[in-house]
Amino acid sequence: MSDNRVTVRRAVDSDEPALLEIELTAWDATSGFPSLTAGGRTNFFTERSGPAAHLVAEQDGRLVGYIRLQDKYPFEEGAGVLAVNGLAVAVDARGRGIGSVLLDAVTAEAQRRGARKIALHVHGVNTVARRLYERHGYVVEGTHPREFLIDGQYVDAVDLALYLDV
Ligand SMILES: CC(C)(COP(=O)(O)OP(=O)(O)OC[C@H]1O[C@@H](n2cnc3c(N)ncnc32)[C@H](O)[C@@H]1OP(=O)(O)O)[C@@H](O)C(=O)NCCC(=O)NCCS
Repeated sequence: MSDNRVTVRRAVDSDEPALLEIELTAWDATSGFPSLTAGGRTNFFTERSGPAAHLVAEQDGRLVGYIRLQDKYPFEEGAGVLAVNGLAVAVDARGRGIGSVLLDAVTAEAQRRGARKIALHVHGVNTVARRLYERHGYVVEGTHPREFLIDGQYVDAVDLALYLDV
């Protein structure tokens, strides 16, 4: 019998191939930076972003998405501000609420850590992700007009944040 429930857990080293597969196929010009996912990339984890920085979602025994949560600042005055530095769901698993479950898991984790704010950047044109974040209470903190040139088009960078202590 298949179990459609989505479970979330901390990533482990052996998740790397499944995470790399998602990384190489999930992003496009409206959501990511094509130069970072184009050709040749063979690792998902890096020295700065190892398994401990990731929560992964599983459904029917398959890894279907991840979210990366890190300290935004490496000094104590910025402690309490965490950053979502990546959120992606496998293309064929979208629209089933997995992104939503990952965002809820990160909120719970941030609260456990005593964080006061979760910050992230999203491309202005990424309407699917922006709606999702908005539904989860994220608000716009600022916009950087024409921040990136992606496939010949200028793209705004939008700073969003969820306040946990208000
Ligand atoms: C953004 C993203 C993580 C959302 O993941 P998800 O698991 O599809 O999220 P949910 O199912 O919780 O909600 C997604 C929205 O897409 C809609 N949707 C429905 N079917 C869909 C489908 N087949 N494909 C994509 N989206 C679909 C959902 O209804 C929902 O819309 P709503 O917000 O208007 O209700 C995913 O689209 C993704 O990986 N995108 C590329 C990377 C990205 O943009 N990351 C965020 C960068 S800041």
